[in-house]
Amino acid sequence: MNKNPIVLDVNHMMADTLGFQYGISRGQVEEYAPFAAAANQAVQHARGTGKMGWTELPYNQDEIVAKIEKVAARVRENFDTFVVLGIGGSALGPIAVQQALNHLHYNDLPAEKRGGPRLFVEDNIDPERMRALLDVIDVKHTCFNVITKSGATAETMSQYLTISELLKEEVGEKWADHIIATTDCEKGNLIKLAKENGFELFFIPDSVGGRFSELCPVGLVPAAVCGIDIRAMLEGAAAMDERCKGDDVWHNPALLEAVLQYICMEDMGVNMNVTMPYADSLKYMADWFCQLWAESLGKNVTRKGMAKNCGQTPVKALGVTDQHSQLQLYTEGPYDKTITLLKVENFRAESPIPHGCEAFPDVAFLGGKSLNQLIEAERQGTEYALMKKGRMSQTIILPEVNAHTIGQLIYFYEMATAYAGELLDIDAFNQPGVEESKIASYAVLGNTSEKYALKAAEMAKRPAEKKEYIL
Ligand code: PA5
Repeated sequence: MNKNPIVLDVNHMMADTLGFQYGISRGQVEEYAPFAAAANQAVQHARGTGKMGWTELPYNQDEIVAKIEKVAARVRENFDTFVVLGIGGSALGPIAVQQALNHLHYNDLPAEKRGGPRLFVEDNIDPERMRALLDVIDVKHTCFNVITKSGATAETMSQYLTISELLKEEVGEKWADHIIATTDCEKGNLIKLAKENGFELFFIPDSVGGRFSELCPVGLVPAAVCGIDIRAMLEGAAAMDERCKGDDVWHNPALLEAVLQYICMEDMGVNMNVTMPYADSLKYMADWFCQLWAESLGKNVTRKGMAKNCGQTPVKALGVTDQHSQLQLYTEGPYDKTITLLKVENFRAESPIPHGCEAFPDVAFLGGKSLNQLIEAERQGTEYALMKKGRMSQTIILPEVNAHTIGQLIYFYEMATAYAGELLDIDAFNQPGVEESKIASYAVLGNTSEKYALKAAEMAKRPAEKKEYIL
C-alpha cells in the first residue's frame, strides 16, 4: 500500500476547464482508450526485455543494493569528496536526486552536518570547469565515480584520463582505490580499464539505457554515498509501477499522461512541454526529464520505417522564478505549449513571514503568512493565469519531497515516456541523432579509425562557408 502517493491532476488540460477550443475533451481521451490499452499491453509484454530492463530495477537489485551500501559506507569513511564523471543519462539523474533529497547547500555544510562527502557531478568538459574543480578538491581525499554505459564517451573518458594521471602523481600506487567504475559488464573500454587496474566496479544492465538508468547503480551509488535512502527510492518506484500496470487510462497515471501528451503532439500541434517545479529541490528533475523526453521521443522514423518527425521540445522552468521571466510567453505567446507544474504539499522547512511595514498595506498583508503559503499561492496564480488565456497545464503533487516520492516521480516519467513511444510507434530507446554528433566530433578531432575517417570525408563535402555570412 502506497501511503505517500504522488498525484497527477490534469483538470487544467481538459475542455471541462478550458473549453473545447483549447482543452482536451474526455471523449477525445476515450477515443484513444483502446490504443492506450494496446500500448500498455505492449509495454507490459516487453518488461525486462530488450531496452525495458529498467522496469525490473525496483525488484531485482537486492544484492546490488547491499553492495552499494557497503561501498558507500567505505567511501564516507575514507574520502571527504565524491566526484561523478559522466554526462547525459550518466549525470542528470544523480544531479536531480542529490538536489531533491539533500540539503540545498549540501556541499557548504560542515562535514558533521552532511550525510556524506561533498558531491560534484562533472557533466561537461569546459576546460575552465575542470580547472575550477581541481582548485576546490584535494584528489588525495577524493573518490571518483566514472560512469559511462558505453565505456567510450569522449567527454567522460577524457576526464578519466586527466584524473587518473593526477591520482597516479599525487597518490602513487594506491591510486586505483580512488576510482569506482560504473559501466556495461562487457562493452567498452572502461570495463577493461576497471579489470586491469582493479577499480571498484558496478554494472549498468545491458537492457537499461542511459536516460533510464537513474534507478540502477548509475544513480544509486552517488545517492547512497551522500546518505540518501536508496531502498526507499526503489520502493517508491515499485509503488508507482503498481499503479501503472492496468489498461484503463483513467486509472494508470503514466498512461493518461502519455495519451494527453500524444493528443497535444499529434492532434493539436502542441510541441513544447514545459516542466515548472514550484520547489528548488525539484529544479533539476526538470533537466533530467528534458533528456528523457527529448532523446526518447525526438525521432524521424517509425518502427516500421515510415518517415515521421515527432517529439515535443521539453523546456525547463522554475516556479516562481520564471513567473518573472517565461510566464508572459506561456500565457500570451503561441498555443504550442503544455505546462506541468510540480507542487509540494509539505515542504521540509516552514518559513514564516514576520509582521512589519504596517504603513504599507500591500507589504503588511504578507506578515503572518509564510513562504510556504506564498509559493503555493503563486502556483495557483500561474495556473489561473494560464487557464484564463486557454493554456493547458497540469499539476503533479508530491505530498513531500522524500526518497519514496522521488522514486515514484522518476518511475512515473519513465513509464509515461515508454507509453508515449508506443503511441507514436517509434523506438524510444535509441538516439541516432546523438550518435551522429558524437562520430562527427571524433572525426573533427582526427580519430583515424575507419568510421571516423569516413565521417571526416563526408564532412569535407559540406558546402563551404561564405565570408559574407560571418560578421
Ligand atoms: O540516454 C543515453 O543513452 C545518452 O544520453 C547517454 O546517457 C549519454 O550519451 C552518455 O553515454 P554513456 O553513459 O555511454 O557515456
